[in-house]
Amino acid sequence: MTGIDTIVVLDLDSQASRLLARRVREAKVFSEILPAGTRPEKLKALAPRGIILPGGPGSAGPAASRCHPGIFHLGIPVLAIGAGMGLLAREFGGEVTGNAAWEEGVSTHAPENTSMSAQASEDAPAENRENLEIIKEKPLFSRLPAGVEVWMSRGDRVKTAPPGFAVLAATVNTPVAAVGDDERRLYGLQFHPGVFRTPAGFTVLENFLSGPCDCRPSWTPGSFIERTIAGIKEEVGNGRVLCALSGGVDSAVAAVLAHRAIGPQLTCVFVDHGLLRKGEAGEVQKIFAEQFHLNLVAVDAAERFLGRLRGVVDPEEKRRVVGEEFIRVFEEEARKLGKIDFLLQGTLYPDVIESMTEDGQTVKVKSHHNVGGLPADLQFKLLEPLRLLFKDEVRVVGEELGIPEEVVWRQPFPGPGLAVRVIGEVTPERLTLLREADSIVNQEIAVAGWSRKLWQSFAILTGEKSTGVTDGQRTYESALVLRAVTSEDAMTADWARLPYELLDRISRRVIAEVPGINRVVYDITAKPPGTIEWE
Ligand code: XMP
Repeated sequence: MTGIDTIVVLDLDSQASRLLARRVREAKVFSEILPAGTRPEKLKALAPRGIILPGGPGSAGPAASRCHPGIFHLGIPVLAIGAGMGLLAREFGGEVTGNAAWEEGVSTHAPENTSMSAQASEDAPAENRENLEIIKEKPLFSRLPAGVEVWMSRGDRVKTAPPGFAVLAATVNTPVAAVGDDERRLYGLQFHPGVFRTPAGFTVLENFLSGPCDCRPSWTPGSFIERTIAGIKEEVGNGRVLCALSGGVDSAVAAVLAHRAIGPQLTCVFVDHGLLRKGEAGEVQKIFAEQFHLNLVAVDAAERFLGRLRGVVDPEEKRRVVGEEFIRVFEEEARKLGKIDFLLQGTLYPDVIESMTEDGQTVKVKSHHNVGGLPADLQFKLLEPLRLLFKDEVRVVGEELGIPEEVVWRQPFPGPGLAVRVIGEVTPERLTLLREADSIVNQEIAVAGWSRKLWQSFAILTGEKSTGVTDGQRTYESALVLRAVTSEDAMTADWARLPYELLDRISRRVIAEVPGINRVVYDITAKPPGTIEWE
């Protein structure tokens, strides 16, 4: 982003670099992740205020070896961590010893985030935790309390500091825990400042940013909104923009930002495929058309979708049918609007990083799953105002834009909607049953204060029936599955340890209030081996 203090994080290890990039942004400084092998000339041209080399569990390997030693000679401050510190020390003639089997249990999760990460902290090997003795306070170790605990990297170890570098901190087991050369503004840390097991790590990072890098805390939601609105105005000019509004947070934030920038030049199409949760379709229209005055075309296509889903039981076939029909409906609406110049998409930074080539260019970013299959004659340029944001930043920007909490904090929802949560054939009756039950599930979870702790919580209508007894009468009705998971990114997930009282309330209410369901079971399968959705 031009005109804003930037820190470049070189991608020595994807988990560690994302974590550090996010921590830098939490300190209100913009950060950008670039490939490990980014050429020094390119970095010089970008003129960042500082460079971070974040070592992590995978970084001793090929990524670190692609790192160009010229990056240490640009006159730009560098903070090199773990294996990164090894590179720094080698470059300047320090003595480094390798240590292959290392860094078991480096977790990036904050312990309060999920029950799982709290557990991980208990299980983690204790020998990585060490007490730091600070030898030189300024600039990195100012404002730290006495007796700082750090999470030590077990990879490359610097045995002696390179000539010209001072040892800034040590522990009993790690005599060279931090090195620095204030003249050249080059620093190395043997411990991880970004993980929660280094509680003072954030202060160390802030000290690097405000001291050697001389960064101003300019990365705020307000400044992002202001810059982005100006950017959209410039890029779009008099053009017309189309957006597929799904009701999810990404497309909502992208649309409201674009609307602030270009007002009526933006048209949003909301396709109600009849597979949404209770009240959702009405809510989307109320919020975006009535409250935000977006130019919204709401298409009630429920009958079309349900017609095409009749008799379909195979999960993949359901996905295919819904995806294909979505494209058709969207295309029809787009054609009715006449000439459109841009397609607005809620692409986020993780997608951009994933699509990055070794020289830092982005190849085609993953197309939105819903509109990726549009016909070739509908040619749009892509407008992606959120492409520099992490998901949590999108939510903060959404809040700043005044988008209601229920949209900003909405849990992920699959494109094919409830079609993949009604096991077997999708009929209007079965959808109604699921909607009612799902609504009770999420009301109770919200009341109990669990919504934001969960990645997703929802109900699944199984194809199974079971015997029950109500008011002395035998029943034979459907079984409902309750699924609630914690996750960081949906790649892995764990079932949430919901309180028994909450499970009990949900079960009693669903069975009492939803005729047709007489049994509720709780899914206690982690991912892997399970998936989050059932189909
Ligand atoms: P699974 O079930 O594969 O889901 O563990 C991972 C995450 O992706 C969501 N999901 C989908 N999202 N179209 C989507 O847009 C889909 O077909 C789809 N299937 C699963 C799911 O809700 C979870 O967050």
